[in-house]
Amino acid sequence: MILQSNKIVIRRPDDWHLHLRDGDLLKLVLPYSSSTYSRAIIMPNLISPIVDIKSGIDYRKLILSNVPNGHIFSPLMTCYLTEVLDPDELEQAFFSGIFTAVKMYPLYSTTNSSYGVNKINNITKILERLQKIQMPLLVHCEVTDFNIDIFDREARFIDDIMHPLRKQFPELKIVMEHISTKEAVEYVESSDNKVGATITPHHLILNRNDLLVHRINPHFYCFPILKSKVHQEALRKAISNGNSKFFLGTDSAPHIINHKENSQVQAGIFNAPTALSVYATVFEELNALRYFESFCSENGPRFYNLPLNQDTITLIRKPWKIKNTVNLSPYSLVTFLVGNTLNWFVEN
Ligand code: NCD
Ligand code: ZN
Repeated sequence: MILQSNKIVIRRPDDWHLHLRDGDLLKLVLPYSSSTYSRAIIMPNLISPIVDIKSGIDYRKLILSNVPNGHIFSPLMTCYLTEVLDPDELEQAFFSGIFTAVKMYPLYSTTNSSYGVNKINNITKILERLQKIQMPLLVHCEVTDFNIDIFDREARFIDDIMHPLRKQFPELKIVMEHISTKEAVEYVESSDNKVGATITPHHLILNRNDLLVHRINPHFYCFPILKSKVHQEALRKAISNGNSKFFLGTDSAPHIINHKENSQVQAGIFNAPTALSVYATVFEELNALRYFESFCSENGPRFYNLPLNQDTITLIRKPWKIKNTVNLSPYSLVTFLVGNTLNWFVEN
């Protein structure tokens, strides 16, 4: 790693939580990830979700066929955990490298999650197998009971689901995805090395005031919903301590502008073009740039037992004003923090 006042060179990062969608949108958003990251954990929540080996292979091929010339990018596929998933098929897919991990969405927790898990008791056999073969379980950590306040859903998930789950499956490898609360930070920090967590750029740089004060900004609406400053500060403290259980996961989740600027706003932030610059800005604000490389490029592969990338990426200190990147009707997207100026520019 080279850390200078106007230049940072780090091992090339990976994105451990990414939505690439499919069809035309995939073609438009993929280059913003494949130009920067070497690998990415690809979320399976397509409209027709990735729930079996065949759809996993097909989706991987589709992604690879859209990687621009000159970009070297490996999609790491995940399987959507449904209650009918066959443990033998999963094991075969893991050992043959088709699936790197399994993603668990509580039923109706987020975009396209109607195939999600209703009761943990219904997936005991699958979890036993995941534990046995040490295949990571990636978890969207929110309870979905309508009676639970939306700001409390992650903390409740930890009490109601994570504690009993970890008691029953202490050796299961779990990534708590896109954590957003002090409770999740504390839970990860107090767990053994079987538990890791991804942290998004938006949960580090924003809090719910950015979403709600003066006007509602639909482009900051995402799941888990942005929390108060206390929680934002807990996430920022977690990364500034250099704890290796936390790693980069952008959760870049594009929705076309008509679905964001609408009376029924979809949750998800398209941050692929700006995420790495935002992370650098936050680490610099925290005076923690010495941990920037481990968060972006080392803690993730170590958790997943994968080799570290050998090439590097350079960030230059140069103010740049964020512009919208994908402007192709009807697939226009609003880029995270458009109109703002960031100080670190990623050289490609
Ligand atoms: C994601 C999406 O749109 O697919 N949305 C989001 O707000 N993060 C789903 C998810 O990761 O929850
Ligand atoms: Zn996501």
